Amino acid sequence: MSLRKKLLAGNWKMHKTAAEGASLAADIAAAIGKETAVDVVLCPPFTALDSVGRALEGQAIKLGAQNLHPEKFGAFTGEVSAEMLRALFVTHVILGHSERRGLFGELDEFINRKVLVALANQLKPILCVGETLAEREAGKTLAVVQQHLEVGLKGVTEEQITTVIVAYEPVWAVGTGKVATPAQAQEVHAFVRGILTQHYGAARAQKVRVIYGGSMKPANAGELLAQPDIDGGLIGGASLEARTFVDLVNAAAAAQ
Ligand code: 13P
Repeated sequence: MSLRKKLLAGNWKMHKTAAEGASLAADIAAAIGKETAVDVVLCPPFTALDSVGRALEGQAIKLGAQNLHPEKFGAFTGEVSAEMLRALFVTHVILGHSERRGLFGELDEFINRKVLVALANQLKPILCVGETLAEREAGKTLAVVQQHLEVGLKGVTEEQITTVIVAYEPVWAVGTGKVATPAQAQEVHAFVRGILTQHYGAARAQKVRVIYGGSMKPANAGELLAQPDIDGGLIGGASLEARTFVDLVNAAAAAQ
């Protein structure tokens, strides 16, 4: 039995209308019931947050967003603030996803501002870190992860750190069908916990969930989730279908 409750989060990315999202959320909730052996979070696009939130009313499943803007309000066309998310009963927010970094040019300093604003608004950040294939082949995996983590968490206090979730998502495994081996993932997860220990002490570092993302499927989840420092999953493709996602939740519960 791990110290840490496993967490399974579905990152729907740019999939599902408001109506489709509500229907998927209702199907997942019906299958999971009030299951509390693991924490489950659904992260639909902004436009489906309201309908999915309604479908999850009274359920144990939590609602997450995929991004936020660090300013409170203002002339930021196309952006959404932490307060706007809170008003929709959002509890978690994915920050620094590799698609935000790679396709939208987000840098560590900007991601760090978002992490601090999320925490100040009682939103739990799911901070994504991870190397590209070129960085892995150049032997830079741990250096890249360290930079994402240390800059991303700058200014996060000892009280706040245990509400942060770190997601290790090797970019070469995201949406490619190429999953990290359990040993590859465990090495990085243990490294992440080591850095958290240096900055926040062992007792706090032991409480932080470090989850894995990148082509996680029911077929490979068991082995990954059995690793001592893998505390759950951030699921893309396999979160878009109720049956597969529920199988993953069950795999996480079995590994708990
Ligand atoms: P896939 O599960 O589709 O590889 O996506 C992982 C991911 O990016 C989750 O945030």
